[in-house]
Amino acid sequence: MRDIRIGFIGAGRVGTALGARLKEAGYRVTDVWSRSPQSRNRFLQHVPGTKVWEDPEGVLRSSELIFVTTSDDAIA
Ligand SMILES: NC(=O)c1ccc[n+]([C@@H]2O[C@H](COP(=O)([O-])OP(=O)(O)OC[C@H]3O[C@@H](n4cnc5c(N)ncnc54)[C@H](OP(=O)(O)O)[C@@H]3O)[C@@H](O)[C@H]2O)c1
Repeated sequence: MRDIRIGFIGAGRVGTALGARLKEAGYRVTDVWSRSPQSRNRFLQHVPGTKVWEDPEGVLRSSELIFVTTSDDAIA
């Protein structure tokens, strides 16, 4: 389970905190996309080594397990 490539779409408070805690726990947090460069960069600071994508499709292609952690009205 810890070998699965985990990605995040949406690097707000929930996504960043969950990504950081999963990495601390030994999981592979590999990919992230967020709408704003500021959120992407903040995620990278908290979860070093993550591949930051310019589009969400990159996360879909690269990750095996994906958390959608945008605000509810952006999920669709
Ligand atoms: N925080 C909590 O304790 C908590 C608890 C329970 C449930 N939740 C739920 O979890 C969800 C996320 O909460 P949060 O606290 O992490 O919110 P947040 O810090 O405001 O982050 C919102 C995220 O949604 C993205 N986003 C917003 N509008 C978007 C759009 N139109 N297109 C693409 N991305 C968009 C933002 O991207 P950018 O930053 O890149 O713009 C950001 O990654 C919410 O639905 C909230 O109700 C939160």
